[in-house]
Amino acid sequence: MTTNEPPSAWSGRFSEPVSDLVKRYTASVFFDQRMWRQDIRGSLAHARMLARQNIISGADLAAIEHGMAAISEEIEAGRFNWNLDDEDVHLNIEKRLTVLVGDSGKRLHTGRSRNDQVATDIRLWLRDTMDGIDQLLQKLQAALLDLAETHAETPMPGFTHLQVAQPVTFGHHLLAYVEMLGRDRSRFADCRRRANRLPLGAAALAGTTFPIDREFVARELGFDGVCENSLDAVSDRDFAIEFCAAASLVMTHVSRFSEELILWMSPRVGFIDLADRFCTGSSIMPQKKNPDVPELARGKTGRVFGHLMGLLTLMKGQPLAYNKDNQEDKEPLFDTADTLVDTLRIFADLVPGICVKADAMSAALRQGYATATDLADYLVKKGLPFRDAHEAVARAVRRCEAKACDLPDLALAELREFSPLIDDDVFSVLTVTGSLGARNHVGGTAPAQVRAAIARARKRL
Ligand code: ARG
Repeated sequence: MTTNEPPSAWSGRFSEPVSDLVKRYTASVFFDQRMWRQDIRGSLAHARMLARQNIISGADLAAIEHGMAAISEEIEAGRFNWNLDDEDVHLNIEKRLTVLVGDSGKRLHTGRSRNDQVATDIRLWLRDTMDGIDQLLQKLQAALLDLAETHAETPMPGFTHLQVAQPVTFGHHLLAYVEMLGRDRSRFADCRRRANRLPLGAAALAGTTFPIDREFVARELGFDGVCENSLDAVSDRDFAIEFCAAASLVMTHVSRFSEELILWMSPRVGFIDLADRFCTGSSIMPQKKNPDVPELARGKTGRVFGHLMGLLTLMKGQPLAYNKDNQEDKEPLFDTADTLVDTLRIFADLVPGICVKADAMSAALRQGYATATDLADYLVKKGLPFRDAHEAVARAVRRCEAKACDLPDLALAELREFSPLIDDDVFSVLTVTGSLGARNHVGGTAPAQVRAAIARARKRL
């Protein structure tokens, strides 16, 4: 019998329809429809393979291709009627195809199951998403590099324990984030490599009795190869977990940066200002300009961590092979990707809008004996063992504390009370410029090194 209005995909097996509540509970169409392009792409590759292997006819393939083109147009134009009765993106598209092209549409699912189909769709979707994320990470790196270049010589206090430690340049500080994002990119590249294998052909779980050509489908879809084991192919969601783990680390980095921006922007610190378009005011306090964007990014980081934990928990109790539990992979995955993409987009735009207040950074540097280590190193170079040098400088710092002054404010005679090795060449060592310039090795904060590091990073980009 040929009818163009197929009943539900499995109505033959059941004596009554599912209740509306169950229908809504089990359906995924309202969130998995975002994979429609990948679903159609996968179906077309599968259909081409079926035709090449003479499993369906050339006429069937032509009808399927024709129907899928029409469906793409409908979805694109917002004219496609997504239907809860058809559970998910796969059945919605297949059903529409059958309405459009009849029996050829019904032949599409030969040698295939939604289990290998959905696994394929997610991998394709994730691959596209990761490619976009890599570009955004690169864009954010480029923005940080530009700002670092402008401030390759701008001194600021480097902190440990949130206390002034040693002078660094603001450019050097920003380069730390460029490094983090570089590792993030390589983590996604690594995740992509493992995700880029074809599940199709596994069918429901055991493979199929049809003479399929999986390598052909893999090539058609740009996969590096096929999943080796059919049970693993339909049940594996490692790639989703790896993605959320990599995303969690990106968000960790963004969150740390956000924390610094918030701190730097606090009027108590005043190192930077953010462009107005990233801030909001207060409905009651007229003077406020709040760093809402970094605060939200810091907050959204928790949400991404939650998705990672959710996915790990989703998978930990599942026996082989496919279980409906797996349908729960999508919302956390999609929300992770959406959150990450939005956050990266906004930060790539926010970074060029950072206004640096170099005077405030310099003033802060004069408040924490930032060149104390330089004085100790100076004494070591004059022959004093480091531990003794440390002790001598610590005593000098206590003197400064008592007099409420900085180390270079002490007169030479007074400095010599702490070590007779000190001469008037000490004052160049105690300046911020001297301190910065002296850390002149790969990875150090000397402006020349910061410039070289920027050049190397640009090349890697
Ligand atoms: N909507 C399902 C999912 O997201 C597709 C696979 C359904 N397979 C099944 N045997 N119920 O995982």
